Amino acid sequence: MAFDIDMIKKVYANFGSRVEAARKVVGRPLTLSEKILYAHLWDGNPTKAFSRGSDYVDFAPDRVAMQDATAQMALLQFMQAGRPKVAVPSSVHCDHLITAKEGAAIDLPHARTESKEVFDFLSSVSNKYGIGFWKPGAGIIHQVVLENYAFPGGMMIGTDSHTVNAGGLGMVAIGVGGADACDVMAGLPWELKFPKLIGVKLTGKLNGWTSAKDVILKVAGILTVKGGTGAIVEYFGDGATSMSCTGKGTICNMGAEVGATTSTFGYDDSMERYLRATGREEVADLANGIREHLTGDSEVYADPEKYFDQLIEINLDELEPYLNGPFTPDLATPISKMREEAERNGWPLKIEVGLIGSCTNSSYEDISRAVSVARQVSAKGLKTKAQYCINPGSEQIRYTIERDGFLDVLDNIGATVFTNACGPCIGMWDRVGAEKQEKNTIVHSFNRNFAKRADGNPNTYAFVGSPELVTAMAIAGDLGFNPITDTLTNEQGEQVKLDPPAGDELPTRGFAVEDAGYQAPAADGSSVEVIVSPTSHRLQLLDPFAAWEGTDLKGLKLLIKAKGKCTTDHISMAGPWLKFRGHLDNISNNMLIGAVNYFNDKTDTVKNQLTGEYGPVPATQRDYKASGLGSIVVGDENYGEGSSREHAAMEPRHLGVRAVLVKSFARIHETNLKKQGMLALTFADKDDYDKIHEDDVIDIIGLTEFAPDRSLTLVLNHADGSSEQISVNHSYNAQQIEWFKAGGALNIIRKQAAA
Ligand code: F3S
Repeated sequence: MAFDIDMIKKVYANFGSRVEAARKVVGRPLTLSEKILYAHLWDGNPTKAFSRGSDYVDFAPDRVAMQDATAQMALLQFMQAGRPKVAVPSSVHCDHLITAKEGAAIDLPHARTESKEVFDFLSSVSNKYGIGFWKPGAGIIHQVVLENYAFPGGMMIGTDSHTVNAGGLGMVAIGVGGADACDVMAGLPWELKFPKLIGVKLTGKLNGWTSAKDVILKVAGILTVKGGTGAIVEYFGDGATSMSCTGKGTICNMGAEVGATTSTFGYDDSMERYLRATGREEVADLANGIREHLTGDSEVYADPEKYFDQLIEINLDELEPYLNGPFTPDLATPISKMREEAERNGWPLKIEVGLIGSCTNSSYEDISRAVSVARQVSAKGLKTKAQYCINPGSEQIRYTIERDGFLDVLDNIGATVFTNACGPCIGMWDRVGAEKQEKNTIVHSFNRNFAKRADGNPNTYAFVGSPELVTAMAIAGDLGFNPITDTLTNEQGEQVKLDPPAGDELPTRGFAVEDAGYQAPAADGSSVEVIVSPTSHRLQLLDPFAAWEGTDLKGLKLLIKAKGKCTTDHISMAGPWLKFRGHLDNISNNMLIGAVNYFNDKTDTVKNQLTGEYGPVPATQRDYKASGLGSIVVGDENYGEGSSREHAAMEPRHLGVRAVLVKSFARIHETNLKKQGMLALTFADKDDYDKIHEDDVIDIIGLTEFAPDRSLTLVLNHADGSSEQISVNHSYNAQQIEWFKAGGALNIIRKQAAA
């Protein structure tokens, strides 16, 4: 048994009383999201009401989930925390580092060899610290979490943006960076701005070609990729209870595509059925025991406008299937309008490949509905025009659909079965011919469709739809095909129409699996050795960062004055650097290479004050470091926006940057800098940004009296011998100042653990 029933019992034991206390302090009926949030306050029973969208609140998540790419740095940091074991149940899932090319039988053994040291590291560190480990091939993190760990009313964080998928089982599940995961595993609170709430009322019932996926594709069209930012999307109504638990998972999964903090649904019969079908009768019984607390109060749903910051209503009876794309998941086109839109925009009509599966759409229901369409190929004398591939979400799904003959049907239409892993969804698709960068169209049932996301080809036009629609489109090979109205010409020259898909929500014979790919951790991991080769170029054990020297910081060289947008991608690029996520020194060679230098409008070209030459940012900084000199990075507005990637804070710290001074920070990045023991400063007067010269040497004065709400002074020593002072602000509280003094939050956690 992978899940932790005692933890769930503990959560449920307090749930009712906390909801009751929350209702009192808030003074009104509660939405489901509020119930879950208030039931997970770090300080226990709610004693005050929080303002949505402004109050920062400490929470106590129940679980942590990590995927292989992000788990590396999260766990390397956790090893620094000095804890013998994780404080909350946690799991690691090997799914991102597996290339899809020939099919699982060849690709999986290849990946096991190629990333052996990373998988071995994750396996041994999981074994040692009490973390459930899912081997390569076991499945994609979010599908495995839904099948094994998610539970109604729970709170989970995960080091992947689609962690939100677990909302399908009534959780508040949120994607975070590795530093946050490390904190929670070390037993510390997790801070989140109390989210706003968007209500989505679903009425009617899905029918015909329409599926749960079309709900979120429509919502994405309404909210756009930013519309959910800072909010939880809560679905309710008879349309919600009428759909399957896994369909709800699909909807929540793609909440990430509207920028939502997370999405969730109230506990209902579909969730109970799913829990029982996946071997969690005990969890279902426990959830039934507190059922009234696991949905929003009835008054909320009777008058939703009063309780949600925004309300969307969708009638499922009238909902049409959608295809969203290309290049953005919020460009929603109903299938009836696709031909017209494609012709108008010059999107290639010929479909080259249809891909189904992924963490978004791998349920038994999804596959069975897709198979009901695929069966019609031979029954109606058709031929599949496009290539067709599937990435099953888990070994349990793969095994069950094989047992039930579904894979045979897909095989008959020429399907390639890739590993139970992310593959084409994360650019790990070694697609033949992609390097030619030809303009082409693919359709898939994944969630994201940004340029290069699937096969690295910027000219691949990717459209997102339900697995059953993708299957129909692959059969037709035509982006303009509408299976609701159009016919296809079969091999005999007859016009035939595809019947609407039909499928089973859950396997009538139950789920089955021979080897799910799970490795339970050692009961006592104290003697387990974690092996990292000192010569590895993919993994590197972390050394604690040095504590503050106790003096003002003088003589800091200006490394770069970044101009305009500087996201975490500009600071620590992804793509080819993904493989170095576990090696701080190697990945530091991408530090700030995407940032635009204010003084020459170039990227990765800054003046080295020691030589007067221009060179790459990382090399210049390494030069300063080698000479024992600190440096400072200057930035513009909203510096560090984009993601919670902790590498963007760790790399400058590792290479000896002492401070980041900007007009404004993206808050998560600012916190990450503080956690790593850096100085995160803002101009008291934003116009002072203009006073920073290319050859400046900068002193930071006032650190010996570093205190909350007290500004610091910067002395700008210009090359012409003149100097000027400016005032800079910070948002450090007393605890964060201790992080700075200790050289990073982890140094304090380790000290506490040793005490
Ligand atoms: Fe993997 Fe794509 Fe999901 S990368 S976790 S299948 S979003």
